[in-house]
Amino acid sequence: MLIKASAPSSVLLVCLGNICRSPTAEEIFRQQAAVAGFEIKVDSAGTGDWHIGHAPDERAQRHAKAHGYNISKLKARQVSADDFHDFDLILAMDGQNLADLQAIKDSVGGEKENLAKLALFSEEDPTYGGDDVPDPYTGDGDAFEEVIERIESSAQAWIESWKSN
Ligand code: 4NP
Repeated sequence: MLIKASAPSSVLLVCLGNICRSPTAEEIFRQQAAVAGFEIKVDSAGTGDWHIGHAPDERAQRHAKAHGYNISKLKARQVSADDFHDFDLILAMDGQNLADLQAIKDSVGGEKENLAKLALFSEEDPTYGGDDVPDPYTGDGDAFEEVIERIESSAQAWIESWKSN
């Protein structure tokens, strides 16, 4: 029998700007976790600092809303070393985000076992496993739709991985 990981009590979703992919992931994850009955603190952040305090990109807001996700009230922030103490699991939208997060984790002092586990957001996804959620910032409407499709799929895969069998 497979030993499944139990649900974390907190998850942080991370992309580059925290205005397109990770705020969308934050709301999708929050809704899916609630439907599944998991009480999980969900937040998002960016590795970059350009958009701190900004609302999500208008295109991200519009596409999310069309799928039933209201992200209009979210505000961008930058990921910090403290996040590795404050969250159980930190999920990176793409490989570059993962590398940047690993560098922050490596710089945090203390017991590494007590720091947040770090993984690619698509890691558990049977369809998109190992893929990046591509950065839609310079893309068109299709790019934003693809972000939602991939995030819904990969978030559901994490939730399923925590359900007892
Ligand atoms: P995100 O998209 O990482 O999905 O929020 C981006 C937003 C802004 C920038 C890059 C990516 N930027 O270069 O400002």
